[in-house]
Amino acid sequence: MEIQRIDLDPPGDLLAGLHAAFLAALAELPGPRMSLPVFTAMVARGFPGDMREAWAVVEDGRVVAGYGLGLPTTDNTHLGVVRSLVVVPERRRRGLGRALVAHAADRARTVGRRLLQAETPSKDPADGFARAMGFTPSLGEARRVFDLRTADRSRLERMLAAAEPYASGYRLEQWAGPAGPELHADLALLMEGMNDAPQADDIEDMTWDAERIRVMEAMDAEFAQQTYSMIARRAADGAVAGYTRIYVDRAEPDGWGRQADTVVLGEHRGHRLGLVLKLANLLWFGEMEPEVERIITWNATSNSHMLAINEAMGFELLDEWCEWQREIHPTTG
Ligand SMILES: CC(C)(COP(=O)(O)OP(=O)(O)OC[C@H]1O[C@@H](n2cnc3c(N)ncnc32)[C@H](O)[C@@H]1OP(=O)(O)O)[C@@H](O)C(=O)NCCC(=O)NCCS
Repeated sequence: MEIQRIDLDPPGDLLAGLHAAFLAALAELPGPRMSLPVFTAMVARGFPGDMREAWAVVEDGRVVAGYGLGLPTTDNTHLGVVRSLVVVPERRRRGLGRALVAHAADRARTVGRRLLQAETPSKDPADGFARAMGFTPSLGEARRVFDLRTADRSRLERMLAAAEPYASGYRLEQWAGPAGPELHADLALLMEGMNDAPQADDIEDMTWDAERIRVMEAMDAEFAQQTYSMIARRAADGAVAGYTRIYVDRAEPDGWGRQADTVVLGEHRGHRLGLVLKLANLLWFGEMEPEVERIITWNATSNSHMLAINEAMGFELLDEWCEWQREIHPTTG
């Protein structure tokens, strides 16, 4: 069996083949399907500070298995992050998955990494496979869905009106699409606040600066990912306090919005800013994107503050996921 490196310059049939294998492997999962542009950005291409590579197994002229490997370069340089390791259903239980994990460990070891990380649904085959490959659970996660088709908008408006007085010392700013350069330093500060979300042991805080934000905003535009963003500032001095964002895939519209990072920086907590930001952004998003039917969000199952907000808004549990870790031995897989 040959495990081939996927050349992304330009992305060709092999990457499209891995994407097709990914869709086939996860066909039974609920929730949105990742489009090829999003898959390319998430699994294969990466961004500054988090380089990626992708690998594929071809049998009978078709990609039947493969994975992406994230190799952070500015923080977490001890990690190799296995992304979307898949084997198409008709080729399972023949050792392909095992060979890909050994390959990922080899690659990661070659570039000086000591810990493999992966994320899977919390059920078989992924659960049994990850355990058999020597991974142990490091963080519980869950996906929740908000259904815009059945949502009671006036209930959300009432919730927002009730929360706003607590946040009266703050004002909101909103924009659609990439943030202008004047916002990049503020967004870097806000993204560093995301390090306070629960994370697994042996994971370092991510470091952000204006340049990293600039490149990520440009990538969203390149892959046709439209964004709706809101930040909160303290009215007295303009200090940036909180942030939230929802994505929609313009490349392959699928009726889904994707809730991304929501954060309130430490000194601004306790003013219901998280709830105000999420409600205001969701209501605005609903007006701007009437074709979108549902919004999906990811949280650590231990993130009680964020979960309380999501459940109050009406997000409902879709499924549970697990983050896994495994030491990479210095000499063997
Ligand atoms: C998980 C997946 C990659 C496994 O691929 P595979 O090629 O069938 O795996 P292997 O044949 O190498 O299996 C290795 C071991 O994992 C365990 N395993 C595999 N599938 C399992 C299942 N359905 N239930 C329980 N254990 C399982 C077994 O111990 C197996 O060894 P064995 O066959 O000698 O008993 C594949 O089922 C898949 O693509 N699933 C959907 C995508 C996914 O969840 N990926 C995340 C993986 S990190």
